[in-house]
Amino acid sequence: MSENVIYKRVDDSRTETAHLIRPGHLNGANRLFGGILMQWIDEVAAVVAKRHSGANVTTASVDNLTFLKGAYQNDMVIIKGKVTWVGKTSMEICVDTYVESLDGERTRINNAHFMMIALDENDSPMEVPRLILETEDEKLAWEHGEERRKIRIKRKQDNLDGI
Ligand SMILES: CC(C)(COP(=O)(O)OP(=O)(O)OC[C@H]1O[C@@H](n2cnc3c(N)ncnc32)[C@H](O)[C@@H]1OP(=O)(O)O)[C@@H](O)C(=O)NCCC(=O)NCCS
Repeated sequence: MSENVIYKRVDDSRTETAHLIRPGHLNGANRLFGGILMQWIDEVAAVVAKRHSGANVTTASVDNLTFLKGAYQNDMVIIKGKVTWVGKTSMEICVDTYVESLDGERTRINNAHFMMIALDENDSPMEVPRLILETEDEKLAWEHGEERRKIRIKRKQDNLDGI
């Protein structure tokens, strides 16, 4: 590893939050309102990215945001975020959301991949630490991140072209 380059582990920025679903979090169908969950998971992604980069961050895009199951009043919602891939100034953060039952069993209800960009004091993209991959799962997640990056590059060009 080069002396001038900063390296961080996935565990250095791993983040978990918990919420209890209250009446004010529900939509008209008495389920957790998707917009509330999106705010919670965006905040977790931002905390992971701030911890990894040591900088302010902004959300560039969100991939594969999937609502797998509903959640209901009084449910305990657990949100877990981790870095899966880094570019020069961008970080891919995987965020998984679970409902935890009273016996501790967790059922995944949402999954999303956030692209967060580190910003310097002028709000310009700045370089982020390299990622140390310690486990087979982390190496596999990185490979999947590389595949997602190729899709993102094409999608960004399509967006710019108005396709
Ligand atoms: C995200 C943003 C900073 C990128 O600025 P930019 O001028 O395109 O910067 P660059 O072209 O130098 O790209 C910087 C990095 O962002 C990545 N990026 C840019 N647009 C992206 C997109 N749509 N999806 C994923 N990554 C993206 C680039 O791949 C690059 O990553 P790398 O350095 O790891 O290779 C800029 O588009 C922005 O400020 N967007 C608004 C973000 C915001 O306000 N979010 C909150 C929404 S309410």
